[in-house]
Parts: sequence; structure tokens; C-alpha cells
Amino acid sequence: MPRNYSSKKELPVALRFIIKPFQFIVFLIIQLPLLPLTIFGYIFIVVKAMIYTKKHGVSATATNPLSSRWFLHIFGLRRDEATVKLISSLPFMSGAGLWLMMGPAFIANRICGYLPGLARLPEPEKASLMSLVGCRTGFFDKMMEKNINSMDQVVFMGAGFDTRAFKYCKGKNIKVFELDKESTQNCKIEALKKAGIDYEWITFVPIDFNQESWVDKLIDYGFDTSKKAFFLWEGVTPYLEEESVNQTLKAVAKSSAKGSVITFDLYSRSVVAGTGEGSFIMKYYGKPLLKMSGEIWKFGIDTTKNPKENVETLLKEAGLALGEFRLMGKTTEKEKPFGGLVEAVKI
Ligand SMILES: C[S@@+](CC[C@H](N)C(=O)[O-])C[C@H]1O[C@@H](n2cnc3c(N)ncnc32)[C@H](O)[C@@H]1O
Repeated sequence: MPRNYSSKKELPVALRFIIKPFQFIVFLIIQLPLLPLTIFGYIFIVVKAMIYTKKHGVSATATNPLSSRWFLHIFGLRRDEATVKLISSLPFMSGAGLWLMMGPAFIANRICGYLPGLARLPEPEKASLMSLVGCRTGFFDKMMEKNINSMDQVVFMGAGFDTRAFKYCKGKNIKVFELDKESTQNCKIEALKKAGIDYEWITFVPIDFNQESWVDKLIDYGFDTSKKAFFLWEGVTPYLEEESVNQTLKAVAKSSAKGSVITFDLYSRSVVAGTGEGSFIMKYYGKPLLKMSGEIWKFGIDTTKNPKENVETLLKEAGLALGEFRLMGKTTEKEKPFGGLVEAVKI
């Protein structure tokens, strides 16, 4: 399997108009006869994950970014060996199911370079709901690369099955904490053990952001408030109450040294309500699936007017300053961004 994990190669515009439709036609020729297998693979993955996660109280939504990192790895866009090992050791994942689902796209990729929406790393302004997880993966990778060497501590908040600790922190003189609900953490630890991945250098802190003071608990587990920290809060804000989001940002500002950074994603109120971008899919697929998993989207921001100012206000109230900020999705007369990617700094 040729994998160079190179960053995106942009084709000249004129070539894109010829090559993209050609790639899509090749994909369709392969995909159509194999469609029953793809559908079977997808249903198998979703049902298996739903049954297990419901029974064991593990986060079902954490499987989504995990699968996305696997897609990016197998399509050669982002190296992540730990994700591959983790997926084969998690009791609710199915490597066979993933291959059945993505096999036709993968063959088309090998033949002519076709990339499905689920395996892209688009710039945020060009992202759609289909490519949003890949888009934010790219943004948070850049945030890690930019900040990691100037930090003493890294805190993965709502870490789920994220493997960035192994990609960016292992072997560095940096203290690493992962925060998530206990059931999800236990499942991850068991899978890491089974996969033979050394995880003892990571401090796992079981927490419910909606119920307890995560800072107090983090300090109990060895976090040093006088040292600089990088907080990664990926894919978590929509699942929290507004109060929890505000309190979390305030706690970061209050309990970390100057120059500390928190990076996170936010979604528009209309997407959270299921009335914005992709409302049909959200209404008939996304929302029912979230409801079934018991992980409901609650928190969103107004992106219809001055989204950047709205985020700056949210951060200012918490005592943080905006660093990098990118809107996800198009901004036109009719279309409004469906979310934003934020880097906030303790000043
Ligand atoms: C969509 S997943 C993202 C996981 C991970 N950050 C990633 O990108 O792979 C959301 C994560 O937030 C965690 N989470 C949601 N609500 C939480 C809460 N109230 N307390 C602790 N963790 C929570 C879930 O358990 C899950 O692991």
C-alpha cells in the first residue's frame, strides 16, 4: 500500500474540472455493484457500536472521530498507527466492517486518486458536514504542532479514543492527562493494553464535565497550575450545557499559567438544533442517532452575524484571548458557517 502521508496536493483549477468527475465516475463504476456490501458494512459497524456502547456506558460518538482518523490513515493523508492498533482492539469496532464500507472508495483511490468526503482534510472554509471531522482533525493537528514544544503539560479534555498523545507527546518531557467519563476511559485502557501500546505515562482522570469540578480533580491527579498547559477539547462542546462550556473556559483561564492554550470546536445554533446546514440529514439521521446514543447536542453559537466577535465575547468573559480562528463552511448571502475552530490563549 503506497503511503507517503504527504500534505494535500492542490491540482490546477482547469485540471480539477476534468479529473474530479473522472475520479468520481471510476468510483461509481466500482461502488455500484458493491453497494450491498458497503451498506452491510456500515449497518454492521453502527449496530455493533450502538449495542456495545449502550450496554457498557461507553461514548458512541467518540467512535466517529476515531473512524475518521482511520480513514485518513488508510487513504494516506495522515499517519496514525496507534489508531489502527486501537481499532482492532476495541470490542465495539469492526475492521472488517470498515473495510466493507470503504473498500470501493479505497480501490478507486488506488486506481485514480479518488478521495471520499469522509477521507479529506479540507480547509475549514471549504468543509461540509461530511468532511467536518477530517477538517477539524487537520486544524487540531496544526495546533498541537504549533504549541506542543512550548508547553509543560497537555490535557486532552473529553479525549475519547484520541491517539494524539502517542503521535505528539510520547517521549517528550511533558506531562499528559486524559479526561473523559470513567466507562469510556476504562474501555480505552483495556484496548490499549490488548493492542500492546504503552500507556502508563498518561494520567487518566475520570470526570463528568456536567457534574464535577474537573480542575480540582485534575489538580488532585498532579496537574500543576503554575506551569504552561495545552488543552485540546475536540468534539465536546456541543454535548455540554452552555454553563459547562463557560465554566470550563473560565477554569482554564483561572487554573493555568500565562501562555497556556485551549483549542476547541464550536457549532452553529442552527446545526445543533438540526435546522441549519444538512438539516434533512440531521433531522432524519444525525439527531435520531445521537438520541439513541444518549449523547444529545445542546450548545451552539450564533454564526449568522459576526461569529468571530461572538467567540471573542465568549472568551473575554472567561478571561481568554482569541488566537487563531477559522470558520467551518461557506459564508455567503444565503449560507452561514456551520461552526468554528478556536485557539484561545491565557494572557
Ligand atoms: C465526539 S467525542 C470526541 C472524542 C475525542 N475528543 C476525539 O476527538 O476523538 C466526545 C467525547 O466527549 C466525552 N464527553 C461528552 N460529554 C462529557 C461529559 N459531560 N463529561 C466528560 N466527558 C464527556 C465523551 O465521552 C466523548 O469521549
